[in-house]
Amino acid sequence: MLKKKSKYVVAVVGATGAVGNEMVAVLEERNFPVEKLRLFASERSEGKTMNFHDKPVAVEILSEKVFKGIDIALFSAGAERSLHYAPISAKEGCVVVDNSSAWRMDPAVPLVVPEVNPHDLKWHKGIIANPNCSTIQMVVALKPIHDAAKIKRVVVTTFQSVSGTGKKAMDELLHQTADILNFKEAKASVYPHQIAFNCLPHIDKFMEDGYTKEEIKMFNETKKIMGDNSIRVTATTVRVPVFRGHSESINIETEKNISPNEVRALLSTAPGIIVFDAPEKNIYPLPTIAAGRDEVYVGRIRKDDTVENGINIWIAADNLRKGAATNAVQIAEELIKMA
Ligand code: A2P
Repeated sequence: MLKKKSKYVVAVVGATGAVGNEMVAVLEERNFPVEKLRLFASERSEGKTMNFHDKPVAVEILSEKVFKGIDIALFSAGAERSLHYAPISAKEGCVVVDNSSAWRMDPAVPLVVPEVNPHDLKWHKGIIANPNCSTIQMVVALKPIHDAAKIKRVVVTTFQSVSGTGKKAMDELLHQTADILNFKEAKASVYPHQIAFNCLPHIDKFMEDGYTKEEIKMFNETKKIMGDNSIRVTATTVRVPVFRGHSESINIETEKNISPNEVRALLSTAPGIIVFDAPEKNIYPLPTIAAGRDEVYVGRIRKDDTVENGINIWIAADNLRKGAATNAVQIAEELIKMA
């Protein structure tokens, strides 16, 4: 458990990655009470420094011995590192907020989106899981609708940016785009196909039933975060040639009837949401609008007449911020409020 202090020793594990970079920026922007910031990555990053409040901080090599004296560690260095290092860190009394998939479905680990289930932080035992990026933005939009009209079923299709895969994927999209525009061959190494000027219905590994792990994460994590196993979720997750910002088309079936205007009113006062819904003026959520922001943008709110109580929405959010770094820092903010 975190002890009450005026300032905390905070670590970012995987600081040099796409999400890690953003974690450092979000800690700075939100003026998180940092006594000392420690940054960790692999040997590849030895000698690097990163700026925090205009001062350089050296990147250190991650090892089992580093966690003593650290109060809170934000992990984003992949599931393998989290599986190994998070329990070691928790044993040293350092609370881990883990952005990987390693601990999300462990029944002893809370999976938290502060707008949805902050109460689950009460039972953590040193590790808290940050949900999958596409799930976070979806549950922020679903929660107020669920509270008002009880969601029975969700059909979601995602349009996910390459930054969700990490820095190497962002470089791959950049290089492929430049190569194709220069009439050169596009080389694919991060993804199995060219991502530039393309859409890949394939995020994470395929499972035996034909779904991808990303899709299964959306089914299971939604139930755990919303605390309701009865919500049925089906998904198709698609990687698109966008650098930053995930979009989602969400079809929602509710038990009680709820009109698009009621949904609009509910969401416009809900935490973490910006209703961006004036199609007659070409106003609807876009990844370019959500990029750099912490809110989930919701628009194209309309009735689905093909079922008894159906609503369609279109949402966009910054996957590196609300989908990862901001949500992790918000969890840490909740933890210090509870300390
Ligand atoms: P490094 O930059 O030294 O490789 P991304 O998801 O954007 O690729 O970032 C992954 C992050 O995880 C990076 O900061 C990376 O550090 C870090 N990382 C990867 N492997 C290890 C490891 N074995 N030990 C510590 N950090 C690691």
